[in-house]
Amino acid sequence: MSREPFFTLENRIAAVTGGGQGIGEGIAQRLHAAGARVAVLDLNPELARSTASAIGGLGLECDVSSASSVENAIHKVEAELGPVEILVNNAGVAGRTLPLWELDEKDFDGVYAVNVRGVFLTSKGVIRGMLDRKYGRIVNVASVAGKEGNPTLGPYSASKAAVIALTKSLAKEVAGKGDITVNSIAPAVIRTKILDSLAPETVQYMVSRIPMGRTGTVEEVAALVHFLASREASFTTGQCYDISGGRATY
Ligand SMILES: NC(=O)c1ccc[n+]([C@@H]2O[C@H](COP(=O)([O-])OP(=O)(O)OC[C@H]3O[C@@H](n4cnc5c(N)ncnc54)[C@H](O)[C@@H]3O)[C@@H](O)[C@H]2O)c1
Repeated sequence: MSREPFFTLENRIAAVTGGGQGIGEGIAQRLHAAGARVAVLDLNPELARSTASAIGGLGLECDVSSASSVENAIHKVEAELGPVEILVNNAGVAGRTLPLWELDEKDFDGVYAVNVRGVFLTSKGVIRGMLDRKYGRIVNVASVAGKEGNPTLGPYSASKAAVIALTKSLAKEVAGKGDITVNSIAPAVIRTKILDSLAPETVQYMVSRIPMGRTGTVEEVAALVHFLASREASFTTGQCYDISGGRATY
């Protein structure tokens, strides 16, 4: 067997939403390290540009909850880098940490707009091209909250369950129409800035449920995404991969 590098993404075009910081930034760095040309799409244009410039990528402002913003960003990526072959739907918001009866419609809709509509819009923006070229990898960042439901994170947990289901539906729609896979991942607590937006008790609850007794790292999540984004990960689709230190064993 020749000693070619495994899981290379050499010259692949990748787009990472919410790639300006946290998990998305780690994913962008990892895909770049594996050889991909990476577009970093983020609501915050400064973050998008600073992450992208550190890896020689393309940083673009993009609000994944807005159809026109997504369309615009994908158009720019295709014009500058080429058609998107790898899409990582990582942008997400947690919303307010309160019991359901203290939340209002705005809280619910705001979380759904980013976490669910965002995945819908960006996937829709790239999937036709993937079907035409008969190649593509989509990786959606869901959450263990979508499997188990975290108290005080109702809309967030429901939105991540929706991401897992959307992943399964799209995976089946494109299965057999080329080498296109659609998978999701379900991290437990990963130490990033999103945790600053949560009540400390909520974070404490989530960490206490992890059998490994620690938070995960951005690098660990990025490694899993790298594998799922590779050509070699070709016979698994519609799956939700656990990365939760043993919290979700199904
Ligand atoms: N950190 C965790 O413990 C954890 C656990 C499970 C799942 N996740 C998921 O991982 C993903 C990344 O989380 P993180 O911890 O890195 O969060 P983070 O808050 O550090 O980063 C999120 C990024 O998404 C961007 N963003 C927010 N709204 C956006 C929008 N409408 N359009 C485009 N970009 C937008 C932000 O500007 C930011 O750069 C999220 O989907 C989150 O739900 C995180």
